[in-house]
Amino acid sequence: MPTFNNQKICLVTGGASGLGRATAQSLASHGNVVIIGDILEDEGRQTASDIAAAGGQAFFAPLDVTDREQVKAFIEMIAQRHGRIDCAVNNAGIEGSLHKVDAYPDEDWQRVIDVNLTGVFSCMKHELAVMAAQGGGSIVNVGSTGSLRGIGMMSAYIASKHAMLGLTRTAALEYGAQNVRVNILCPGGFHTPMSDRLYHGDFSGIVSGTPLGRMAPADEIATVITWLCSDEASFVTGAAYQVDGGRMAGPVLPS
Ligand SMILES: NC(=O)c1ccc[n+]([C@@H]2O[C@H](COP(=O)([O-])OP(=O)(O)OC[C@H]3O[C@@H](n4cnc5c(N)ncnc54)[C@H](O)[C@@H]3O)[C@@H](O)[C@H]2O)c1
Repeated sequence: MPTFNNQKICLVTGGASGLGRATAQSLASHGNVVIIGDILEDEGRQTASDIAAAGGQAFFAPLDVTDREQVKAFIEMIAQRHGRIDCAVNNAGIEGSLHKVDAYPDEDWQRVIDVNLTGVFSCMKHELAVMAAQGGGSIVNVGSTGSLRGIGMMSAYIASKHAMLGLTRTAALEYGAQNVRVNILCPGGFHTPMSDRLYHGDFSGIVSGTPLGRMAPADEIATVITWLCSDEASFVTGAAYQVDGGRMAGPVLPS
């Protein structure tokens, strides 16, 4: 059970669905205040009201992470309204279309880079300024096992997730002196609307390559994010956390 020494002010981008929603619920269930930003307004408000119905504190604000002015306003609004930002989970992401590199549409490439990489950069820029000024904080960027290896047909996604790893490590080096921890979570496939879109309901390939022999529900991944945000992870920074049922340990040959 992660411990939080006091109530934290936490933001979650992409908190309307999938892992972001599970993370918002997990952080709130530990007594923290959660601010959800997402382009999906109805689903984001629903997540906040579901958390409130369960006795937690959550708020929703519309946010497109590709809009730099909106990102700045979102983070300034949280800092002004709540006085600080303790934890930021930069989770909003898209998978992009599936093509080989020579056929990858330029506009799809740009969109994936804009959301997954530049969106995280824009969020970090303002989150780090607030956290450095207040003397501490924890940022968790949601990468992927695709931050650590390739996946055929997903060049834009893989490039964006690899770059997030470099961005995470660099920020960890730059802000450790201000007690700001910056980590990246590298999950393997887990059940969300994104994995439904990618696998069309057939998860047999991913399950057979996973030593634990199953795909995780989103809340099993969210637990690790919550721990990285918590005071128990106080000496963890610059780390890439694989949460993938053992998939990255290597392939399993038939006996
Ligand atoms: N599902 C998986 O198997 C898997 C595996 C590894 C990593 N991930 C990563 O986990 C994160 C969450 O993905 P998910 O599986 O929950 O997918 P999802 O599609 O269920 O959720 C993604 C959320 O991000 C939001 N979003 C998209 N573009 C946005 C934008 N421009 N501004 C703000 N919000 C935006 C969506 O509206 C949605 O609520 C992503 O970064 C994804 O790359 C997912």
